[in-house]
Amino acid sequence: PSTPTIAVIGGDGIGPEVTREAVKALTAVAGGDAFSFVDYDLGAERWKRTGEVMPDSVLAELDGADAILFGAVGAAPGDTTMPSGILERGLILRIRFAFDHYVNLRPSRLYSGVPTPLASSVTDRGEIDFVVVREGTEGLYCGNGGVVRTGTVHEIATEVSVNTAFGVERVVRDAFERATRRRNKVTLVHKHNVLVNAGRLWSRVFDEVAADYPQVQTDYLHVDAATIFLATDPARFDVVVTDNLFGDILTDLAAAVTGGIGLAASGNVNPARTHPSMFEPVHGSAPDIAGQQKADPTAAILSAALLLEHLGRQAEAARVTEAVTADIESRTAAPRTTTEIGDAIATRIAGA
Ligand code: IPM
Ligand code: MN
Repeated sequence: PSTPTIAVIGGDGIGPEVTREAVKALTAVAGGDAFSFVDYDLGAERWKRTGEVMPDSVLAELDGADAILFGAVGAAPGDTTMPSGILERGLILRIRFAFDHYVNLRPSRLYSGVPTPLASSVTDRGEIDFVVVREGTEGLYCGNGGVVRTGTVHEIATEVSVNTAFGVERVVRDAFERATRRRNKVTLVHKHNVLVNAGRLWSRVFDEVAADYPQVQTDYLHVDAATIFLATDPARFDVVVTDNLFGDILTDLAAAVTGGIGLAASGNVNPARTHPSMFEPVHGSAPDIAGQQKADPTAAILSAALLLEHLGRQAEAARVTEAVTADIESRTAAPRTTTEIGDAIATRIAGA
């Protein structure tokens, strides 16, 4: 078989630094010739230089890759030349929508020894290891809305959430499939007591799909209650399925309670494989620490493990995850640079 191509979008801020370490891990586990890495220059810097966010020709090229490794994008704070939303909508969301990344996969696990804001009475309740299956192509992220009477006291701005039976069914089914490979539990998170239209659709489809999986235990939480349980009893969760915006918010909280955003990995997955999937740390470009070798590359490296899994390379994915776990469990208070952490993990991978 031909060498798989991985498109690498380092992006801005700490994005390129952490992505370099993820590439290092992939090379360590699979060998120097296993993948062909192609770098793409995208993000705030390119936009400033050329005014381009995502030329159609680049999107078409990315479509030919086997997977995409993404760092982070975003202008520095105080940089007012770049209007909010340009990169988010024009780059990240453009890729997620164009490549039909309907499963936004966000695993959370509390590794032993990792500092957490959770009380010991909470961590004593059991192992914390869950995955949020966040819908990635619909909801409030569609850009469905508008503004009238802009700038006046009568201004009206709307963002209308789009939820289709097709879109909800496929992501809910994915969550149930994942649960059968885990601990057989799926929690639906929504707010059907207020968002009655979308809520009714999600609940009905959830119940219909659940009927196909009698071995899977089901649960429902309103999103506000879900935040309480994430802070007071996260061990209760196995697979959580929810819409795009609820999933965005819940996964930042999930990261915060399981060791912070430096460890949180994600996959923007197209399970049907009609386009390449994209793997990225949940964190942003952190311009305040960019270029200082202070960023933790762990989330980027764990995202590379998700990439390997998606490409069917389970054994390699497991080796990367095991190396990361061992590294995390051996961490001390002594600070290490981004490269030092990446090197230590690559060494463990090579030695395994
Ligand atoms: C994330 C980010 C993105 C999102 C932004 C940058 C568009 O917050 O990946 O969680 O809201 O999905
Ligand atoms: Mn987010």
